[in-house]
Amino acid sequence: MKGKDLIIGMFGLGTVGSGVVELLERQGAELEQKYGVKLKLKKIVVRNVAKSRPVKVAPGLLSDNPRDILDDIEINTVIEVMGGVKPAEDYILEALKKGKHVITANKAVLAVGGAEVFRQALRSNCYLGFRAAVTGFQDIIERLSSAISINTLVGVFNGTCNYILTQMEEHQQQLDVVLKKAQQLGYAEEDPSLDIDGYDTTDKLAILCILSFGCSIRRQDIFTEGIRHISLEDIKFAGELNYRIKLLGIAKYVDGRIEARVHPCLVPKDNMIARLEGVENGIQIDDELRGQGGFTAPGAGKYPTACAIMFDIINVATHNTVYFPHHIKRLPIKSMAGLESEYYLRLAVRNHPGVLEKIAGVFGKNDINIMSVLQQRGGDRQRGQIIPLVIMVDKSKEKNIQKAIRRIQALDVIKGDVRLIRVEESLW
Ligand SMILES: NC(=O)c1ccc[n+]([C@@H]2O[C@H](COP(=O)([O-])OP(=O)(O)OC[C@H]3O[C@@H](n4cnc5c(N)ncnc54)[C@H](OP(=O)(O)O)[C@@H]3O)[C@@H](O)[C@H]2O)c1
Repeated sequence: MKGKDLIIGMFGLGTVGSGVVELLERQGAELEQKYGVKLKLKKIVVRNVAKSRPVKVAPGLLSDNPRDILDDIEINTVIEVMGGVKPAEDYILEALKKGKHVITANKAVLAVGGAEVFRQALRSNCYLGFRAAVTGFQDIIERLSSAISINTLVGVFNGTCNYILTQMEEHQQQLDVVLKKAQQLGYAEEDPSLDIDGYDTTDKLAILCILSFGCSIRRQDIFTEGIRHISLEDIKFAGELNYRIKLLGIAKYVDGRIEARVHPCLVPKDNMIARLEGVENGIQIDDELRGQGGFTAPGAGKYPTACAIMFDIINVATHNTVYFPHHIKRLPIKSMAGLESEYYLRLAVRNHPGVLEKIAGVFGKNDINIMSVLQQRGGDRQRGQIIPLVIMVDKSKEKNIQKAIRRIQALDVIKGDVRLIRVEESLW
């Protein structure tokens, strides 16, 4: 690669791809001067060449034929910003096999087939840039891969969910109202499931587990619960209890086993993760030897993601290597049933004497200790009316909590489902 120009082929010209084109135009000449390497974008492959684009590209640059990149021996660097697992994974592997450096923003490919992609990059001695796929944290790849003894990582990795939760609190609106606004502003997709059902966070957590623990975890082995069921009442009650609600990705290495889970959590208000606003991301890492560290990053989006890709382009141009584990193993996964946590439970109960006694009886039988009970203040409460009741319970076993919830839901004084939010205590 030394002395050679970077001849780039790019798959995809959507949100991220058009950001890359803009940045290459704006910064290309400066980078060439700085690093003495010419950057030439030779081909962009898209699905539909006739589609109108937010950026202008030279005639002849666009194609709908992947062979125009993969079979072009002059192209030595491939940027993959098309998304989806297939055919993106095949293009990445073929490019690497042909000795082309690859830069990708694709968390789905790395979460599902990361181990094989990393192996191929090593075999071919090629650069594999994936900064854009693991949130916008500066240097997170170097920080995690060079660590020897990470015990815990906890973070907010999805800007859309954080935006929704903070907007619900700020404007006292329900999730569906805020989600519509987020879609209008372009912060949420038309089909928001990937973000709000937690899958995007799960993919990022899987990649972070490869970097931190050198182990790959199948998506389906990561317990995933999104924010769809979080209501404005939960946000208000959490606030009264001095917490904020965040969608967290949590991974821990405990006695040779990995605990990996994604779900909404109550986070103490004064914690750095609780203070993340809007689309901001944040992570806390607990390293046995180096101690604890916390980082924040702007959320995803056109420019932060395109900047992460530019960072990798500079690495290719300057022959830097990217760090990732050479041996990726599988480790046993700790099941959710074995989790121990404090819990927030919101119930819709009939306003009647003796209700609390019935609920407390179920908890007692399942070895669960109630810490506090909260009811909405004010209002004109009538006997027999359905009212919300929040119960905070002491550290308990998840399997006991789930059993108790099933029993409580069957009581005649309860209406609907009991809502559960775990309290994350590994933050500092
Ligand atoms: N958007 C973000 O903020 C963000 C942040 C971090 C990471 N990422 C990741 O970056 C990647 C791209 O995201 P995006 O938001 O830029 O997506 P996008 O706006 O939907 O753009 C996708 C682009 O890929 C092209 N494409 C899709 N399937 C193709 C196929 N089979 N063959 C050829 N071209 C194909 C599309 O072509 P047409 O235009 O012709 O349809 C389009 O230009 C994804 O992996 C995403 O997870 C995105």
